[in-house]
Amino acid sequence: MSRIWTPDSWKQAEARHLPVYTDAEELGRVEETLAKFPPLVFAGEARALKAELANVAAGKGFLLQGGDCAESFQEFHADNIRDSFRVLLQMAVVMTFASKQPVVKVGRMAGQFAKPRSAPTETQGGVELPSYLGDIINGIEFDAAARRNDPERMLKAYTQSAATLNLLRAFASGGYANLRQVHKWTLDHISRNPWGDKFSQTADKIGEALDFMAACGVDPQTVPQLQGTAFYTSHEALLLQYEQALTRQDSLTGDWFDCSAHMLWIGDRTRFDNSAHVEFLKGVKNPIGVKCGPSLEPDMLIRLLDELNPSREPGRITLIARYGYDKVEAGLPKLVRAVKASGHPVVWSCDPMHGNVIKADSGYKTRPFERILGEVRGFFAVHRAEGTHAGGIHIEMTGKNVTECTGGLIDITDGDLADRYHTHCDPRLNGSQSIELAFLIAEELNREAQDRTAREAA
Ligand code: PEP
Ligand code: CO
Repeated sequence: MSRIWTPDSWKQAEARHLPVYTDAEELGRVEETLAKFPPLVFAGEARALKAELANVAAGKGFLLQGGDCAESFQEFHADNIRDSFRVLLQMAVVMTFASKQPVVKVGRMAGQFAKPRSAPTETQGGVELPSYLGDIINGIEFDAAARRNDPERMLKAYTQSAATLNLLRAFASGGYANLRQVHKWTLDHISRNPWGDKFSQTADKIGEALDFMAACGVDPQTVPQLQGTAFYTSHEALLLQYEQALTRQDSLTGDWFDCSAHMLWIGDRTRFDNSAHVEFLKGVKNPIGVKCGPSLEPDMLIRLLDELNPSREPGRITLIARYGYDKVEAGLPKLVRAVKASGHPVVWSCDPMHGNVIKADSGYKTRPFERILGEVRGFFAVHRAEGTHAGGIHIEMTGKNVTECTGGLIDITDGDLADRYHTHCDPRLNGSQSIELAFLIAEELNREAQDRTAREAA
């Protein structure tokens, strides 16, 4: 499609999963207001993330991306932000230690509100209403008023995103992310968990490394970098009216950036030919993620890459594979081979969540932890076999002690799901399950690091 890109050229393409707003004037007022609001991130930060991802694409580093499936107005609380941030940092320390490579930290936070749904309506007790589309669009309560698409919700989502980002920035640079501190939390966590023994050896080694560094004079007092960390934000660029309103031209370079987050991604349901979502993201210079599910054919993927990254800029594209534990090893290799043959530089990341949803006997939607692990292992196995870099993980998680995914060493059963099932959309890993996953990814990364050392020595 050759069309001149403008922030609203997506309106000429095919838009799926966008809400219909019945009052155009009301929508217009909100869009104008948002367009005047300050950007949430600035171009230089998005460029810095792109540079970090370029390293990952070159095989030097790992991307950790995680957070809620859907942020909500109801769960908006400093403690929730802190707990998710803390668990992501803990995961990063464990994985950095294993891989001996930097871990790029990106939250599914501060803007992850809009959801594509499989059905446009939902029926309860014989009453049919529009589906819940995320707090930025309508309300989760099952009544007609709440389910109306309300543009004003975008303003509330913006405000919540701004406050969330502000706190994340404070945590990342204000001393809370001190490396020694993060390790101490992990130790506390381990001692309270039944799986402590399995991981305490790794944790002890991290402690020894920190002690050794401190003895050499490398500690947070002398090396300011150890006091803080770079932390970025991301969400699915689904609600294009909102994304467009926050898209700004960088005064330094003249380039356009979607300033609602550092990184944006395209969902599995909106990555088809002539998609409005692809058209929109084509023109902004942020790092972009593309979800790759079982229905994506190699030809289509290469067309997408040519369109989204014609200059083949490293760090621009992260491909997020989300196959399902039983499909990844059969389905992913053909995409990996096609991308490799095309020469496009990409980060390959694994989303082990979205292909592994089942309905438990209790009726709850859940994701068995062993299937999540199975997909991660399959993802690493594919990249080992293809000689490519398994570059990242994309998860739905929270730092809270929720009971939404079954299994893990803390062994959440189907019967436990009802206890603390709080998600507004898909089931998330809780704090313990997330850290357990990090240790298991660490094993895979360790193996990759050993293979690398052996290759370099040969
Ligand atoms: C998501 O990441 O929340 C999502 C909807 O994923 P996918 O587009 O891969 O289904
Ligand atoms: Co989800």
